[in-house]
Amino acid sequence: MCGIVGAVRTSEASGFLLEGLRRLEYRGYDSAGVVMISPGGELERTRAVGKVGELEQALRQKPLEGTTGIAHTRWATHGGVTEPNAHPHICNGTLALVCNGIVENHESLRDNQRAAGLSFSSETDTEVVVHQVYLHLQNGLDLAEAVRATIAELHGSFSLAVVHAGEPGRLVAARQGPPLLLGRADGENFVASDINALLPVTREYQVLENGDVADIRGTECLIRDRAGEIAVRTVHTSTQSGDSAELGEYRHFMQKEIHEQPRAVADTLEGRLLGDHVLEESFGSRAQEIFDATRQVQIIACGTSYHAGLVAQHWLEYVGIPCEVEVASEYRYRRHPARKGTLVVTISQSGETADTLAALEEATRQGIAGSLVICNVSESSLVRESDLAFMTHCGPEVGVASTKTFVSAMSGLLLLALVLSRRQGFDAGFESHVVRQIRTLPTALESVLGMEDAIADVAKVFGDKEHALFLGRGAHFPIAMEGALKLKEISYIHAEAYPAGELKHGPLALVDEKMPVVAVAPNDLLIEKLKSNLEEVRARGGRLFLFADPGSGFVESEDVRILQVAPVDSAIAPIIYTVPLQLLSYHVALIKGTDVDKPRNLAKSVTVE
Ligand code: G6P
Repeated sequence: MCGIVGAVRTSEASGFLLEGLRRLEYRGYDSAGVVMISPGGELERTRAVGKVGELEQALRQKPLEGTTGIAHTRWATHGGVTEPNAHPHICNGTLALVCNGIVENHESLRDNQRAAGLSFSSETDTEVVVHQVYLHLQNGLDLAEAVRATIAELHGSFSLAVVHAGEPGRLVAARQGPPLLLGRADGENFVASDINALLPVTREYQVLENGDVADIRGTECLIRDRAGEIAVRTVHTSTQSGDSAELGEYRHFMQKEIHEQPRAVADTLEGRLLGDHVLEESFGSRAQEIFDATRQVQIIACGTSYHAGLVAQHWLEYVGIPCEVEVASEYRYRRHPARKGTLVVTISQSGETADTLAALEEATRQGIAGSLVICNVSESSLVRESDLAFMTHCGPEVGVASTKTFVSAMSGLLLLALVLSRRQGFDAGFESHVVRQIRTLPTALESVLGMEDAIADVAKVFGDKEHALFLGRGAHFPIAMEGALKLKEISYIHAEAYPAGELKHGPLALVDEKMPVVAVAPNDLLIEKLKSNLEEVRARGGRLFLFADPGSGFVESEDVRILQVAPVDSAIAPIIYTVPLQLLSYHVALIKGTDVDKPRNLAKSVTVE
């Protein structure tokens, strides 16, 4: 992924570039860098390994001046996390380029460039791109034409921005995959990977389309499409708040976002329920027509959003809708026999996950009843590309590990199951019962947050562990998967989730007194089955940590620790049982001393394949 920001201003540009990087840091924070065209017409570059704060410090020592510049925050794909691999990359001391994405044919291009006498100072695919633009300039092409010629030769998915020392006041940007936005204010022009970076200067933005090349010269900006024709792109006005999220009383954004969940779900539900009824228009103006044509649902998502999809599968199948769930990176490369009446549901906090976007494109090509995205960012690519959108309205989520957007996405998916249940002959009594339970969600979430002290105590047991097993059954198996993912992501403890009934087919071999086994154990139809599975663990010396309600009927003992969850209706239990597992991973991460909000090697939004 990575974040790109660039500016052609009439005054100093470095402040905007640095603030832009801070706002894009969620996309990757392995290293960061900036290039400015100095008042003397030279490229001045500063790069630093680590978070944007490191670059900031370096710039404090040696400030850069100029009105034209580009900057980048990196999530390493090709080449290790080193300063030479950090962007911007420079060719011949005169041409600088930043790139977001992946260039697949970089090796063959590199060979040709070596043969042409160019040398390399990094292991990145991006250096190949800047060299290629340079070669076209050498052949007499103008900067924008050289960029166009280059992108025509590249395979992959990327967006980029380029400046040339000899042309202060000029910046060329191009998109062939990940989004790139243009903003304009008071005769100044800006580019950025997302709107957050533009908000300090403008709310108005244009989105480049694939194949577009934007040529900014001073106050002017000309966009040409893939065919080289002048293109006019719609000017959108962002409704997002320009403030960056504040930590307030909390130590980490993840902690804050866990505690925001009662409010987040209340905001998700706001205006979506009327009495005991779900308002169908919450999904978009074409909801009725598309839902009428829906015979089955295909859910596609990644990471935590995928887990929300797995929970929804239980709800949708319960109301009689056949449902498949698949991770987007697999879906996009499989053959799918077209099935009439398929509603494709993508789930994505960011709305920018490259694999999910590509999978939606692939699904749409096959002819479907329609597409729906469950998303938290209204100005995102998935919202633009989908027929219907259900916005979760949680406010920005900063912590890399998704929390509030997961519970809000699940809440939205439960509403979807209800809306579709009407068409399956479920009576109004069913809907009104579930809606009554949904209305209790904010209070029930508040109550489960009260378990934090007990969970912090249990977390101490995990501090020195290398592995953990998470178990669940039915709709709580995906919750166990999410619990394991959270622990992996932020505490770096290897954690696996299993449907408890599968234990005896392998993972039981791992169980001994050193392996903590966490089970999601509400009192539901499968509780007796789960109990037998857990007895198998105890019999092998395993230490159990059970999230259970009083009705589950467990008894605490030396090897069984019970973390009691207040009883909730089974319709909403997966949403509620998510929270204690989030708290567990958070408190284990505190003990391990990891960077909770920016865990190593990860990023919030994955805009590369
Ligand atoms: C990244 C994040 C995860 C997130 C996943 C999918 O891997 O670190 O927290 O679940 O992307 O992101 P999306 O924005 O599509 O929900």
